[in-house]
Amino acid sequence: MEITVLLENNKSEDSNLSIEHGLSMLIQKDEYSLLFDTGGPEETAIRNAQKMGIDLSKIDVAAISHGHNDHCGGLLKFMEMNHKSPIYLKKEALEPYYSKRPEGMKFIGMDSQITEKYLERLNFVERTIEIAQGIFLIPEISKDFPIPSSNRVLFTEKYGKLINDNFDHEQIMIIENNDNLVVFSGCTHNGIKNIINTAKDVFPDKRIAAIIGGFHFQAGSSDHVVSEDEEVKDIAEWLKSEIDGQIYTGHCTGERGIKIMKPILKEMLSRIHTGMEISI
Ligand SMILES: [Fe+2]
Ligand SMILES: [Fe+2]
Repeated sequence: MEITVLLENNKSEDSNLSIEHGLSMLIQKDEYSLLFDTGGPEETAIRNAQKMGIDLSKIDVAAISHGHNDHCGGLLKFMEMNHKSPIYLKKEALEPYYSKRPEGMKFIGMDSQITEKYLERLNFVERTIEIAQGIFLIPEISKDFPIPSSNRVLFTEKYGKLINDNFDHEQIMIIENNDNLVVFSGCTHNGIKNIINTAKDVFPDKRIAAIIGGFHFQAGSSDHVVSEDEEVKDIAEWLKSEIDGQIYTGHCTGERGIKIMKPILKEMLSRIHTGMEISI
């Protein structure tokens, strides 16, 4: 299985690719190609794919982790370029979402043109489904542990009032690979411990060979809201004891999150960046 990071917040100095706050990955498994998230609203992930010579019109399917526009920002452009790919997401991803910033409340939901133009191509995931051989989407995430504290600045709107987001718009993807599991999570708003427990509940007899995604120790692109150091350390220790595999992270894990986790997880932890290719 090959994974190409089309967008993450960072890139190597010599890269000709562009960056913005967001996440998007292209996954090729056997003859199947899949887009997991489409990056931010500046559509940088789409432009990066074009620069890399990737023909987006040939992608077989796309899955959107949740309804924030750093993960579904390039979706409209992708759907304009690709006329065949079904899009899998939770229907709650279409709700309005907001982030509380120092400058005020900012809309971070999905572009309404997607439902206006392409509603019939959206597939709403309501229970665990296998969208292709060995590729699963899991929309129900266990609630065994508290969610990351940096989620406190994220809101949705119900009956005209802003309320704290409960992240029921988030799904994860799991790919069976050589009898092991590779777990994909976008922002991990529900917390990486809950995501891992969900994977173990659905596949109790399988080893998790890799986890890929942001862990949401930081809200948004700035570092004004971050998880407490102790919270990050506790999660790193937990991952070390629970996982016998690789952890590929970046995006909303943030600089500080990675700095705290790295000495605990050592070579288990790899930092992802725009343009990175991972073979598993
Ligand atoms: Fe994100
Ligand atoms: Fe998010």
